[in-house]
Amino acid sequence: MKIAVYPGSFDPITNGHLDILKRASSLFDLVYIAVARNLQKQPIFTTKERLALIRGCTSEFENVKMDSFDGLVVEYARQVGAEVIIRGLRALSDFDYEFQMALMNRHLDENINTVFLMPHEDYTYLSSSMVRDLAKFGAEIGSFVPANVKTALLKKFRE
Ligand code: COA
Repeated sequence: MKIAVYPGSFDPITNGHLDILKRASSLFDLVYIAVARNLQKQPIFTTKERLALIRGCTSEFENVKMDSFDGLVVEYARQVGAEVIIRGLRALSDFDYEFQMALMNRHLDENINTVFLMPHEDYTYLSSSMVRDLAKFGAEIGSFVPANVKTALLKKFRE
């Protein structure tokens, strides 16, 4: 059974992440979408909220499980029996960071490979922080995030 982990901050999950998840779920038997708990970033949604948002928009995927993790992604991958880490490559600007991370992860565990997938071109300029900014200033975000995420963002910025 080929198992993959799709890790990230998902603060919040966007249509770009869903696009990658869909591609990954068609390539692997089981995909864990895993929210990193201890990030340098200050997330606006708690881990629990981020997982609930993911749950609310991924029910169509039968071979996708959601989870959260602390510490190194390779350790988490080993724990769940995954041989592959999925990362999305949106543009050349992602490359340096992703290249370093993939090589470091391979240094940490030679048996775990990173597989890069490219999202649909409509999402190459999308990021969670951009969506957060748009929502904060009242711009339309309906084409960038699933409906449950839009509702949660609007609520978050009203509070
Ligand atoms: N669609 C939309 N946005 C996307 C995207 C896509 N397909 N792919 C990436 N992004 C955006 C994210 O929304 C995020 O935007 P933001 O910075 O505006 O919030 C940005 O790209 C990068 O996010 P993400 O993919 O979530 O990566 P990250 O850098 O936040 O997290 C981890 C990376 C969690 C996977 C990494 O830090 C990690 O593995 N940490 C654990 C410790 C470890 O093992 N480190 C590696 C060893 S060196």
